[in-house]
Amino acid sequence: MNVRKIVIKKSNNLEGNVKIAGAKNAALAILASTILVGQKCILENVPDISDVSLMCSIMSHLGVKINMVGPNAIEVDAKNISSLCADFDEIRHMRASYYLLGAFLGRFGKASVAMPGGCDFGLRPMDQHIKGFESLNAKCEISGGIINVKCDKLKGNRVYLDVVSVGATINTVIAAVRAEGTTVIENAAKEPHVVDLANFLNSCGADIHGAGTDVIQVHGVKNLKGTSYQIIPDQIEAGTYMAISVATHGNLTINNVIPKHLESISAKLCEIGAQIDYFEDSIKISCPGKLKKCNVKTMPYPGFPTDMQPQIVALLTKCEGTSMVTEGVWDNRFRYVSELRRMGAEISVDGRLAVIEGVKKLVGTNVKAIDLRAGAAVILAGLISEGTTYVENIDYVERGYEDIVGKLSNLGADIKIVTESLDKISLSAC
Ligand code: EPZ
Repeated sequence: MNVRKIVIKKSNNLEGNVKIAGAKNAALAILASTILVGQKCILENVPDISDVSLMCSIMSHLGVKINMVGPNAIEVDAKNISSLCADFDEIRHMRASYYLLGAFLGRFGKASVAMPGGCDFGLRPMDQHIKGFESLNAKCEISGGIINVKCDKLKGNRVYLDVVSVGATINTVIAAVRAEGTTVIENAAKEPHVVDLANFLNSCGADIHGAGTDVIQVHGVKNLKGTSYQIIPDQIEAGTYMAISVATHGNLTINNVIPKHLESISAKLCEIGAQIDYFEDSIKISCPGKLKKCNVKTMPYPGFPTDMQPQIVALLTKCEGTSMVTEGVWDNRFRYVSELRRMGAEISVDGRLAVIEGVKKLVGTNVKAIDLRAGAAVILAGLISEGTTYVENIDYVERGYEDIVGKLSNLGADIKIVTESLDKISLSAC
């Protein structure tokens, strides 16, 4: 059996242009919601990442016709659905499969979907999704790892989400689009991908107002029509390249971004020493001077995004002084710190708080991508470490970053993917 690894050598002063792909978390929600629409839709600026391929495979399994119609463009026709029961293996590999519940419930009045998978940050409950569905008059029960939802007639209602939840907000919006009457979702998530999902559905004839605020109103409509829609750029991919530019004292022009979505990331990187110029759909970011310590608390949008937490911790390992990072969204999102410690980082973790002592140098070694964003963190660390860094489990990275090795290589990084036969590794092991 072969094992693929990303091999990285120290790469200072990255330079040049990088184009940001479409937003993973918008694309996954919009793809699933084409099932609610049930008419042919063309989606553009779809990121070429494995989570999107997996969602397309799951939907094809359910009878949806999906064709590539251009680079990063797909045609989706969910007119004929062959099954409302999605409990096959692929479902358990991705968190976003839970959007099938809202889409099936909204269109057919019932669904059975296996409990979703996704990165392991500790508990990832679904209680707020269920609260949203039940507020619309649906009956929900979980048995044998399958979430079953059923409703003869969805009725609009007011629902207060106890936790600011991207998934529960999006799932409730999707389920409410064709319900009778008006639904008001309070304490809703405000992430850019929530807004993008609402804009997509409105372009299909839905009647959603207030997305991007903490109160979203959904006026039920009877019919939806197909549309062509361009997905927004990925805020987290952009933030990752911003952090890499600062870490390597580079000078990057990051194209296809919405600067507004990057405000909290820009603010923190400027505290560390970044200089940023803003343009309509691009930014230039450099860091000529010393890297300075800073404190970060991740919060729901517009706060500093939790999905940038591993990347900024990796950057802070080389910032002079003591920095503190508090994880405000997930219970256990510091598991990757052990990999950074193997590279010489001085980080202590106590629950949701990481304390990072800046060190003079990191040293490359064998590390693992513990999950998607942790993979980006060890790649960033590898770029600023002495020697060579070997990153395993790179499938995780490919879930959410389109051609990260190619993009970094084009910016001057010494980075490549190698394939090693397991026999050789097992020999070295003994
Ligand atoms: C989405 O996950 C993203 N995934 C995650 O990005 C991201 O970290 C997260 O939102 C927060 O921004 C996708 O969009 C596919 P939540 P989601 O529901 O929807 C609690 C990445 O790297 N909660 O907003 O699962 C939950 O435990 C991935 O792209 C409940 O208590 O996150 C957490 O503490 C990783 N009950 C908080 O809410 C629920 O029913 C936020 O979770 C649902 C959530």
